Amino acid sequence: MMKNIKLALPSLKDARMRKNKTIPTVRYTVEHTYKNLGQNKTYAIFTYGCQGNEADSEVMAGILEEIGYTKSEDPMSADVVILNTCAIRENAEQRIWGVLGQLKGKKRENPNMLIGIAGCMPQEENATNKILESYGFIDLVIGTHNKNHLPQLLYEAYRSKAKVVEVISSEGEILEDAPKVRESNHKAWVNIMYGCDEFCTYCIVPYTRGRERSRAKEDIINEVKDLVSSGYIEITLLGQNVNAYGKDLGEGYTFGDLLYDLDKTGIQRIRYTTSHPRDLDEKTMQAMRDCKSVMPQLHLPVQSGDDEVLKRMNRKYTYEEYMSKVKRLRELVPDISLTTDIIVGFPNETRQQFENTLKLVQDAKFEGAYTFIYSKREGTPAANMPDDITDEEKHKRLEELNVYINAGYLEGHKRFLNQIVEVLVDGPSKNGDGMMCGYTPHLKLTHFKCSDLSLVGKIVKVKVTEAKTWFMIGELCE
Ligand code: 5AD
Ligand code: SF4
Repeated sequence: MMKNIKLALPSLKDARMRKNKTIPTVRYTVEHTYKNLGQNKTYAIFTYGCQGNEADSEVMAGILEEIGYTKSEDPMSADVVILNTCAIRENAEQRIWGVLGQLKGKKRENPNMLIGIAGCMPQEENATNKILESYGFIDLVIGTHNKNHLPQLLYEAYRSKAKVVEVISSEGEILEDAPKVRESNHKAWVNIMYGCDEFCTYCIVPYTRGRERSRAKEDIINEVKDLVSSGYIEITLLGQNVNAYGKDLGEGYTFGDLLYDLDKTGIQRIRYTTSHPRDLDEKTMQAMRDCKSVMPQLHLPVQSGDDEVLKRMNRKYTYEEYMSKVKRLRELVPDISLTTDIIVGFPNETRQQFENTLKLVQDAKFEGAYTFIYSKREGTPAANMPDDITDEEKHKRLEELNVYINAGYLEGHKRFLNQIVEVLVDGPSKNGDGMMCGYTPHLKLTHFKCSDLSLVGKIVKVKVTEAKTWFMIGELCE
């Protein structure tokens, strides 16, 4: 039986707490002892879940490469395999337990393989207990708050041949100056804040990601200036609730101010996600109108169109309040493309309440949405709410909703038919056939015939000739 070294274990009680103390910023350094830990070794990171996890994986990759690891050509056989996990819904977790099963087989073939689990799942008491009890082949358990300890924890795992667990539940720090291996050379994630204090009653994120904490504006602006000088074209500002940016710093400098300042850095395209409708303020909406680099597109999760459900979700806005933000956005940015998140089958959601959601979807004219069936998350308030809706009914509602949502996607593409759009080229289209693809300012995926790889990372003009549900097709303009 493998030994366990428990440096810190997750605690729901600590994760719930919001202490009113200043959050420290930690500047990344690595101790000399670990500098060559990864020499002649390979690594692979599998990332699940949100863009926040993708950004975290870029940091973990940066840290691993700095201590000598190289990225594996064959991820399932790397010397170190890390799963950066998501806990948002039960099916996200099921997938990860499945991949762990496969890795167990791989480790039998190669006993020197070191397997780590990181991200949101280990932040849950239940998941970490399960790993401790039944997943002997996992060597490293690390949460969302301590990526910077990766070298030391790996060292400890090699040295002790024990399972090393460090999951911190309280507060969290802000990590600056960590190395990063970015996935793209023209589009970059830029974290502006971490954590969430909203406590929507269905959501596990405030417990897995900790308290809301904003990066200093100088650190963000400098990062974006560096990206501009390295040739990056587009950034996406990341946070669970970017509209709350700066509130914890108490300097009166808000998300809208940040948009105005970032617009001056020379970056060509700025997007941001995710927004909370209640915190989306006038200054931010004006910045969307005034700043040329801020793209005319917004993801504004509504979750439900029924006031009673919204109240039980603790969303702190009503149907009317949400719609008045939509109206104002359309006044300021008339051609804006709006997308959203919707949960169906929240505990005891009635048919009428679901229909109110359908009504809002039509009123708001969304051009896309991520739609989910409510998933019970242990430790959240909604997990204790009575629920009398059958699974069958929930699936039916999801299907019904998606008919409206998919029609919205199609409409969102149709409005660009015969127009010339600017596409930031990502690369060859996945389905081959001599097409390349990229995204327009409104975040519409566009394919066009072309094989000139030198266009990757450039903005090209494309005339839209066909509008499909999931993408547009066009012709490259000379
Ligand atoms: N069940 C279903 N969907 C959820 N989301 C968050 N928590 C849950 C849950 N317990 C959805 C919300 C959120 C998106 C990221 O995931 O719609 O906006
Ligand atoms: Fe979860 Fe609500 Fe925070 Fe979004 S705002 S991460 S849904 S608690």
